[in-house]
Amino acid sequence: MEKCAIVTGSSSGLGLEISKTLLFNGYTVFGGSRSGTPIEHDNFYDVELDITSEESVTEFYETVKEFTDGVHILVNNAGFYEISPIGETSTESFENHLATNTLGPFLMLQGLEPFLVKGETHIISILSTAAQYGYPNVAGYSASKFGQLGLLQSLKKEWKDYKVRFTNLFPGAIDTPLWDKVGTRLARDKMLKTSDFISVFNYIVTAPTTIQFPEITFLHKEGFLE
Ligand SMILES: NC(=O)c1ccc[n+]([C@@H]2O[C@H](COP(=O)([O-])OP(=O)(O)OC[C@H]3O[C@@H](n4cnc5c(N)ncnc54)[C@H](OP(=O)(O)O)[C@@H]3O)[C@@H](O)[C@H]2O)c1
Repeated sequence: MEKCAIVTGSSSGLGLEISKTLLFNGYTVFGGSRSGTPIEHDNFYDVELDITSEESVTEFYETVKEFTDGVHILVNNAGFYEISPIGETSTESFENHLATNTLGPFLMLQGLEPFLVKGETHIISILSTAAQYGYPNVAGYSASKFGQLGLLQSLKKEWKDYKVRFTNLFPGAIDTPLWDKVGTRLARDKMLKTSDFISVFNYIVTAPTTIQFPEITFLHKEGFLE
């Protein structure tokens, strides 16, 4: 069977580079995003996807189904991030965090079940150190990433008989377009580079499939930024 991968949030930042890395490693990649992915490759399928919408996730998997019955890698990457003190955080912003970072992975994992390849599928989730540690002024982000971790820990046990691998990544800050949108005061030269992240990601996807990486935390050598 051809090796197939799904990457959510493939249009920008980490998801774009993750998709290129998987293509380089011989995967057929279904990249999902709302704005479209700038990759031209015979084995890349640019598929419209809003992970917060049940209908959109269903349509995404219908497209995948036209090509394959089995998904070898799902990368839960799409994410939403805003910074504000709790008193200035709107209900809409808090709900957007939960919709994108918690409900979205739930819908993607629910849709994945019929495509699981017993003993082979690898689910890689890009969480954050904010799923382990509460940074100030990002209550919505932290709550939603802690929520995603709970979802993954529950499913790992529920899907034990499928013998799929779960890898949860907890990177510190990485210099991607995410920070352009939020206008941070944090020093971008003290963040990981996207290429640092990809060196870890590539190691995981090229390692022998007998190895599992339940949790990997990694950050810039300068330490936590807050
Ligand atoms: N950058 C960091 O410092 C850092 C650190 C730790 C963890 N992370 C995590 O890494 C992941 C990627 O972040 P990034 O830095 O690469 O950010 P980014 O450049 O802003 O990319 C975010 C991606 O998520 C997609 N996305 C957002 N909402 C979506 C939705 N409803 N449906 C489908 N796709 C959606 C966006 O695509 P569209 O807008 O086209 O839909 C975009 O491709 C996120 O989960 C983030 O929390 C980032």
